[in-house]
Amino acid sequence: MNVTKVTEDIYQLSVNVENILFEGLWEIPNGVSVNSYIIKGDKTAIVDGVCGWDGVPESLFKLLGKLEIDPKSIEYLIINHMEPDHSGWIEDFKKINNDFKIVCSQKSAELLDAFYNHKENITIVKDNDTLDLGKGHVLKFAEIPNVHWPDTIVTFDTLTGTLFSCDAFGSFGKVTDSNYDDLLKPEEIEFYEREAVRYYSNIVGAFSMPTKKAIEKCAPLPIKIIAPGHGIVWRKNPSKIIEDYIRYVSYQKGPAKEEITIIWGSMYGMTEKAVNYVAELLEKESIKVNSHQVPQESWGTVLASAWNSTGIILAMPTYEYKMFPPMAAVLEELGKKKVQGRKAFRFGSYGWSGGAQKELDEIMSRYCMNWDFIESVEFKGAPREEDLRLIGDRVKELVKIVKESVNN
Ligand code: FEO
Repeated sequence: MNVTKVTEDIYQLSVNVENILFEGLWEIPNGVSVNSYIIKGDKTAIVDGVCGWDGVPESLFKLLGKLEIDPKSIEYLIINHMEPDHSGWIEDFKKINNDFKIVCSQKSAELLDAFYNHKENITIVKDNDTLDLGKGHVLKFAEIPNVHWPDTIVTFDTLTGTLFSCDAFGSFGKVTDSNYDDLLKPEEIEFYEREAVRYYSNIVGAFSMPTKKAIEKCAPLPIKIIAPGHGIVWRKNPSKIIEDYIRYVSYQKGPAKEEITIIWGSMYGMTEKAVNYVAELLEKESIKVNSHQVPQESWGTVLASAWNSTGIILAMPTYEYKMFPPMAAVLEELGKKKVQGRKAFRFGSYGWSGGAQKELDEIMSRYCMNWDFIESVEFKGAPREEDLRLIGDRVKELVKIVKESVNN
């Protein structure tokens, strides 16, 4: 639990969450922070909420206590986004303060009713609407639908240039009291950059086009500080996270970084022999390689690597006339997240017959993934020397294509 000062009259309340699956689905090996903000003008507003993952807001109240803020003095609740990681505390907040106003989008108001049966004292805001808290803190709102739910808005404090961006410009990774880019060492910034890719690819990536529009909409604002709902606050160099997000958006359709991700699975070690051969070969190719075995590796980790990678190598056996099922499941997820335009190569073992290719083609077509494949290599049983040589030649060809694609 952290309480920190962002800038004059603005404070961050932050809670780290660990040992859960985010959205009940995504592994977060380094945790995640959920950030809320207090703006103290003549009137006090809270932007988004902080709750324990069980929905009990004791964390929030303890943090308010540290700031000597009576929850009953909070006049405005600004809901940037209704997903319960940000809104789960509202019902409990109502138990101790029944005289407050909610400021949110029309869609948030509908979700507020659906989730918490709350309909009272709601002010609907649209693009460029403002709220004057006094002491110069005039808040301006902008709708950024589908970043990442349809209801999302951002809130901009015109006095301090602080953009409360909710899920936009966020990252995974738990935080400390030094939750600001100006207080972090370069290697710590790199940590949050890796966590931002994981967050973006797992949570926001499917909405990359709305994210692009959101970035364009926020660009004209005189932003001095970016204060997201997850991750660190950017007040020394806010353009860094904006530029990073512009890159993440562009990676959706490819090319991405000069990296190759190997996604592989093996039943009895036959495909694995060829994977090991490829891994050794790639060590000599001066290109970054990420290797993930399925189903052992989580979807979120595979997705984060694939988002960053221009090249993908798929290695899997045929299983009961189809693709090795965990590989099919991961590819379906990459399809749903719209990981498109990759340079790719597949190889793998079969026993009775082939079949993996047919299912791969179906998945690529169903999700319009538009991956550019080098001709696949399949071998019956264990890979022979000639199979390995052919696989090696095609992997080298893939490396060449990836490098050309990124550098052209
Ligand atoms: Fe952090 Fe989409 O909620």
